[in-house]
Parts: sequence; C-alpha cells; structure tokens
Amino acid sequence: MTRARTAHDLAHGGSVSAVLRDGARIEIRRLRPSDAPVLRSAFEHLSAESRRLRFISSKDQLSERELRYLTDVDGHFHEALAASDPRTGEGLGVARFIRLQDEPHVAEVAVTVIDEWQHRGLGTLLLERLVERARSEGITHFSALISSDNTAMLELLRVAGAEIEPVAGGAGVLEYRTLLADPGLAVDLRDALRSAADGTLRVPTRLRELLVALARQLRL
Ligand SMILES: CC(C)(COP(=O)(O)OP(=O)(O)OC[C@H]1O[C@@H](n2cnc3c(N)ncnc32)[C@H](O)[C@@H]1OP(=O)(O)O)[C@@H](O)C(=O)NCCC(=O)NCCS
Repeated sequence: MTRARTAHDLAHGGSVSAVLRDGARIEIRRLRPSDAPVLRSAFEHLSAESRRLRFISSKDQLSERELRYLTDVDGHFHEALAASDPRTGEGLGVARFIRLQDEPHVAEVAVTVIDEWQHRGLGTLLLERLVERARSEGITHFSALISSDNTAMLELLRVAGAEIEPVAGGAGVLEYRTLLADPGLAVDLRDALRSAADGTLRVPTRLRELLVALARQLRL
C-alpha cells in the first residue's frame, strides 16, 4: 500500500496494516469510543515506569471520563492512532496529538507502547503515521512534555522533526517543540523493503533476497 493510500485510509478512520522490522504484522487505525475496554486493558498492562513516563505522575487507572476523552477523537483537533495485534486484537500502542487552543498550528503529542512490544520500532512507526496525519490537518509543530529522564521519547521525537528544542522546564519535566518534517523517501523505501521481505509486494526471488539483505543492513 502506498504512503498516500495509507494516509488517506487513516484519515477516514480505516485500518491499515504495517510490518515491524522483525517481521511482526500489526494493524493501525483511529481509536473509537468502543475501544475503551481495550485501552483500559492496555493501560493496566503498562509497567508503573511506563505510566509515570507517559503521564509524568504515578497513575494506577484511567477513569471512565478519561477513557471517554481518550477514545472520542475527531481526527482534526484530537487524533489517536492505535496499533493492535491482528492475531489477538490486543492493543499494542497509541500515538496521539491534541491541538493547542491558543496556537492551532501546534499540537501536544504523546506516544505509548506496551512494555512487551517496546524496542521493536513500533513507537517510531506510530509517530511517523501521526506526523503525516498532523501535517495533513495543518499542524506544523508538535509540543511534548517529557520527563527529563525519558531518553526513549526524546530519541523518538528526533524521527519526527528537523529541530527539537527545549522551550521550558521545571521539576524534572521539559517541554520540547518539534518542527514536523516530511518523512519522505526514507519511509517509502523502508515500507517497500518490508513489504518485499514479507511477500506482500511481489518481486522475483533473487531481488527479494537482495531487498531483505539491504533492509537488514540499513536496520529498516
Ligand atoms: C517512548 C516509547 C513510546 C518508545 O516506543 P518504542 O516502540 O520502544 O520505540 P522504538 O522501538 O521505535 O525506538 C525508537 C528509538 O528510540 C530509542 N529508544 C527506545 N527505547 C529506548 C530506551 N529505553 N532508552 C534509550 N533509547 C531508547 C532508540 O534510539 C530507538 O531506536 P533503535 O531501536 O533503532 O535503537 C516507549 O518507550 C514508551 O511507551 N514509553 C513509556 C511512555 C512514554 O514515555 N511516552 C512518552 C510520553 S510523551
């Protein structure tokens, strides 16, 4: 599936499939109100550390009101792209932006991946899709409140923007601004290589072997 087609489907609430660098297949689509139980369960399976990093405070559960807010998204002011395991329906992660009221070209961003699925490239993939959604909704910058020890999220933000700068800070939390860059050719190439590797894109066997080797070498 082309990037334009993927972006179109996600923008209209459709589901798209993607392949992680270890070959795992996932589904991505916008959260819906009916996803509240899946989101609650995913939250309950997060480690205390991941919850602290996501909410910058200790948090044991999401209230009904929070669940409603987090799943009732319109795609323009508030977008939330969720990844799930197509084999089990389990929720694996969410990338979300919420537009700032007083600066509508800026949106606050947050990404969460359940602990068992971290370090497999899922956070990067979700963020890339979210950047595309944000750009097509006229958002030019992401803002993020990040705990100063959250190197994972900082690394992740680097994939989303050309510039990242701390704009404010205090009590172990920094606010970063990121100019959203076009993910461009590198993402197209990576998607094509993965599709060739898992057989979705049909190419002659020898070429497929070469593409798989190239994808490994480039860690795509
Ligand atoms: C931040 C988070 C979403 C990253 O998700 P992920 O799926 O593990 O991210 P990726 O696998 O795509 O990793 C992207 C890059 O981030 C860096 N990274 C990931 N985890 C890291 C860690 N624990 N420490 C340092 N760097 C890390 C690496 O550079 C990695 O690239 P590499 O795998 O090629 O080396 C995940 O760690 C998470 O959910 N954390 C808890 C919630 C949170 O902090 N959210 C951010 C609040 S705004």
